[in-house]
Amino acid sequence: MTPSEAKKRITALRAQVAHHDELYYRHAQPEITDFAYDGLKRELADLEARFPQFASAESPTQRVGDDRAQGFVQVAHRQRMLSLDNTYNETELRAFHTRLTKLLGRDDLHYTVEPKIDGLAVSLTYEQGRLARAVTRGDGEKGDDVTANVLTIAALPRELKGGRVPDSVEIRGEIYLTAAQFERLNAERAAAGEELYANPRNTAAGTIKQLDTAEVARRKLSIVLYGLGHCEPAVVRSQTGLHAQLRAWKLPVVERIWQAQGIDAAWAAIGELDQLRRSFAYGTDGAVVKLDDFDQQREAETTAKAPRWAIAYKYKPDTARTRLNAITIQVGKTGILSPVAELEPVLLAGSTIARATLHNEDEIRRKDIRVGDLVEIEKAGEVIPAVLRSFPEERPRGAKEFDLSAAVGGKCPVCGGKIARVEVADEEEQGVAWKCQNYDCRAQRAGRLGFFCSRRALAIDGVGGVVAAKLVELDLVKDPPDLYDVPLETLATLNLGTAEEPRVFGEKNATKVVAAREAARSLPLEKWLYALSVPDVGETTARALGRRHRNFAELTESVLLRAVIRKAEADAERTRINPRARNNPPKDEADRARREKLHAELSAEIAALDAGPLAGMPADIGPVVAASALDFFASTPGKRLLAKLRKLGIDPQGTVATAGVFTGKMLVLTGTLPTLKREEAEQKILAAGGKVSGSVSKKTSYVLAGAEAGSKLDKAQELGVPVIDEAGFLKMLAGG
Ligand code: IVH
Repeated sequence: MTPSEAKKRITALRAQVAHHDELYYRHAQPEITDFAYDGLKRELADLEARFPQFASAESPTQRVGDDRAQGFVQVAHRQRMLSLDNTYNETELRAFHTRLTKLLGRDDLHYTVEPKIDGLAVSLTYEQGRLARAVTRGDGEKGDDVTANVLTIAALPRELKGGRVPDSVEIRGEIYLTAAQFERLNAERAAAGEELYANPRNTAAGTIKQLDTAEVARRKLSIVLYGLGHCEPAVVRSQTGLHAQLRAWKLPVVERIWQAQGIDAAWAAIGELDQLRRSFAYGTDGAVVKLDDFDQQREAETTAKAPRWAIAYKYKPDTARTRLNAITIQVGKTGILSPVAELEPVLLAGSTIARATLHNEDEIRRKDIRVGDLVEIEKAGEVIPAVLRSFPEERPRGAKEFDLSAAVGGKCPVCGGKIARVEVADEEEQGVAWKCQNYDCRAQRAGRLGFFCSRRALAIDGVGGVVAAKLVELDLVKDPPDLYDVPLETLATLNLGTAEEPRVFGEKNATKVVAAREAARSLPLEKWLYALSVPDVGETTARALGRRHRNFAELTESVLLRAVIRKAEADAERTRINPRARNNPPKDEADRARREKLHAELSAEIAALDAGPLAGMPADIGPVVAASALDFFASTPGKRLLAKLRKLGIDPQGTVATAGVFTGKMLVLTGTLPTLKREEAEQKILAAGGKVSGSVSKKTSYVLAGAEAGSKLDKAQELGVPVIDEAGFLKMLAGG
């Protein structure tokens, strides 16, 4: 791999990992398995190690994911909450041991091995033995105060009894939902015609971030504790001691912890745990191996994000073999045709699996999967099961290669409209796919409506896939905004079942939907823009555009987006006519002179665009996205959508900067700030009239630097750009 290829791949992987981090930590709605995620992260870390010139303190490999949400008070941890390095293989586990023996200069290391609980991390502070606070991990430094929600867990003692109680102690553990409670909740949701929760872990993570404590109590969370943060005075000296002490304080602890003298014993314990883990109340996705002795832990120290004295060995997701009976095709909200495996039902990881995703046609070819094949499927506790591989050697005779277009007779299986091959390249997937070209296809309509109402968009809870499909099927909704025209009574009497077995949506759900859609009216432009499924406009793009336009009217005429497109054109043209291009030298002197002049003009135009409309524009809004957005709002469906919003009196406002202390100033952020999240700092700058840029230049007014600031700080010092810290920044904002 060449450095330039590596750089490209690193950039792509960082975007993907950041995207999945956001889904996992902030939205508790991952789209890929932990195994797939760990694979991406591993590839990124490997490339960063091989090409250290591209390393960055801002890479997701150098940070712990951030779970903080709106609506909670943030509290600093007295001792940082770290993450764990993980591995899926024995060799790396042994390398962990070898590293420690070298580091500590001894080979008689004693480990504990305990379950790795698949929940969400929490830190409980007990002051003088009384439970004072419960805080999520957050970014490791500061988390959300979720005390009220944690207090709904009946089994958690409010007081530590039984002696040796420290004045102040942070006890770390994991919040989870038992399989039994998870099933109860889903049974209730099914009865109410609501979308089912995907898995216990995400449901628990979503629950702890609920602002309604009564709802949290109803969900019945559980907790298990296994770790120590700050402790004053110290009362235990080892992990084994801690486990015993937690037990003595009557705190819920893991079922079992193994003592292991040396890594062979630890490996054996990992095997034993694997046999037992499926019987635990919580999901166990691995084993955590820790140096037992706290003095040795301190000596081994920690890296920026994880301790050197512990490692998580993760079990591979469960797999099963079954027959692929058929491949059916689903049409998504963007019209992409996705193949779905219809399987001979098989029991896997506690549930019966009859369908699995096949991603796309290329993947089916690559894995050589054919209808009739025996296939291996995987289910990783969460998300949709996936088909991993086929067994061609056991293939029934005559099994043909799958041809998606032929399978659907060359037309959309839902609306019968035209389909075409398109390139897909977004944060989630890359490759070629078939796409239904009909914007008014029912499947697309239902997909867009479901998305419009999803938590990440306008959060109109209650309108999940099933309800959305029904509203579209009955022609009550064509475009998402039509939802506003559906009367309460119609919603309440919506039959989600069949004529023989009716299942009514109900008055209570309908009332909730009406309240939520009204609340959504006042959401900002960035949310609405995202919610309307504009081609190529993802969450990040929508945010960037929503902060630079006042409303939809301004966006449809966007000077900024035109500038992005014009700059790309000018840039391409400049490259094409470059008089110094070796592969295209000027024909004669006159041609050279003409091209020199044009080159200079184009350079001046680009510089003017950069200094003018494009100043502070994030690089991720490229000409393709810009053209896509402008084209959409100029198209018939785009115009129709905006007309409907106008008719409804919905005019979402952009969070555009007004004049303030940073008017005309360009700021660059680097490192981790002590209290502000990056996004928050950006918002403050924009709101105070300033602009934010990703790189330091002579035009930068200030560099706002936090902990572990990297090359940007060096550059600022080199160029003499003033550097401010968070305190200085806040003071400037306050007008001081
Ligand atoms: S110890 C300093 N022990 O896994 C390291 N963590 O992937 C502290 N986790 O953030 C972690 N079970 O939320 C530890 N028995 C266990 C665990 C455990 C689950 C979580 C924890 C951590 C994450 C890292």
